[in-house]
Amino acid sequence: MTVRAPFSREEIELIRRPFRAATLLPGRAYHDETVWAFERDNWFFRDWVCIGRDEDAPEPGTFFRSGELGEPLVVVRARDGVLRAFYNVCQHRGTAVVEEQCGKAVRFQCPYHAWIYDLDGKLIRAKHTEDLDDFSFETFGLRAVRLATWQGFVFVSLDPAAPELETYMVDWHDHHAGFNRDYSRLRRATRMTYDVAANWKIVAENYSECYHCPGVHPLLNKLTPYDLGEDFFPEGPWKGGWMVFSEGCETMSMDGLRHGRPLLYATNEIDERRIYYYILWPNLIVSVHPDYVLTHQAWPDGPNRTIINCDLFVDKDSIGVPGFDVSGARDFWDLTNRQDYHVVELQQAGTRSRSWVAGRYSNQEASVQAFDLMVADRYANDGIRSDRAARTEVANPDRLAARTARVAARSGADRRP
Ligand code: FES
Ligand SMILES: [Fe+2]
Repeated sequence: MTVRAPFSREEIELIRRPFRAATLLPGRAYHDETVWAFERDNWFFRDWVCIGRDEDAPEPGTFFRSGELGEPLVVVRARDGVLRAFYNVCQHRGTAVVEEQCGKAVRFQCPYHAWIYDLDGKLIRAKHTEDLDDFSFETFGLRAVRLATWQGFVFVSLDPAAPELETYMVDWHDHHAGFNRDYSRLRRATRMTYDVAANWKIVAENYSECYHCPGVHPLLNKLTPYDLGEDFFPEGPWKGGWMVFSEGCETMSMDGLRHGRPLLYATNEIDERRIYYYILWPNLIVSVHPDYVLTHQAWPDGPNRTIINCDLFVDKDSIGVPGFDVSGARDFWDLTNRQDYHVVELQQAGTRSRSWVAGRYSNQEASVQAFDLMVADRYANDGIRSDRAARTEVANPDRLAARTARVAARSGADRRP
């Protein structure tokens, strides 16, 4: 069920204005419980959301629980090798069937009255139910959730009517295929988790710009200067772009060097010197580095709190190789993450003030507006997909004017009858 948009047409139009006239999201977007309820019910409970990796349930019988979406789920690899997802809710009196965070099982037995479900979710034992009316083991299995994988990433959608995952992603798949990236080869080397007192969209906006880098991340800014890079113009539910290494830097780590760690996907000098940054709607953040892939996932717990899992992945053949060490990259990102989450918590506190209405974008924040437009278009739910400005174009009036003219010609907006 679609509930009413949480913002008026006038409020949405302010965000959708051309870049130099646009405002940020209104303060309510970060604090209001009804706005959050809209986002949860219409986005997190309907869109495809990544909740893990293939490697989290690698063989038949292995399973993991997931509560990040705000619903208790269990993902299990069934005997036929196929991953399946279910609500982790016993159909008798609603008890959580699986208690362990992850493990291996031949069947699931509810800890309360011992109803038993097989790995396909089918109810196979429920004592003293043989004389019930309108009851069968076939119809009282665990409630299934849609699951699909893309290159090792495990996605679920709680909406039975959602389009297929590949349809949902539009050009996300082709974009990465164009770089010959095979994410299915990745394995998690380490995870960092943060409990942040800020709205999930503030976390995404922070990730979308490097305007703050000179002051907040002096080390990062030395490795990748904040004003070098460009954005992509996707058709699908994602945004992205790249940044460029300074002379003498090879990767994002404490000393900026790879120390012999092999390149992952880069096949030419241009790629070797870039970091690619993406957000796949709503909350899968992916950074492709020369020698590793980093993901951040921002899991909202209401409007004012976000749990962030930051995973560092490397090629599966690198894991266990003597001397292979990602601690320099891990420490770099732990430092960077903490610097970010410090300022986003300050922002959350300030935007809560009755004095705050909505801010303006500097010409270094085109990519923040790109994210906010994804948000605003979904608040509006009117079928319009707002056009985005590019980083270099908003910093250069001539290029922006040329682009604006091209967009207007394409849409026919400047044609006279
Ligand atoms: S609640 Fe699960 S068997 Fe009773
Ligand atoms: Fe940052």
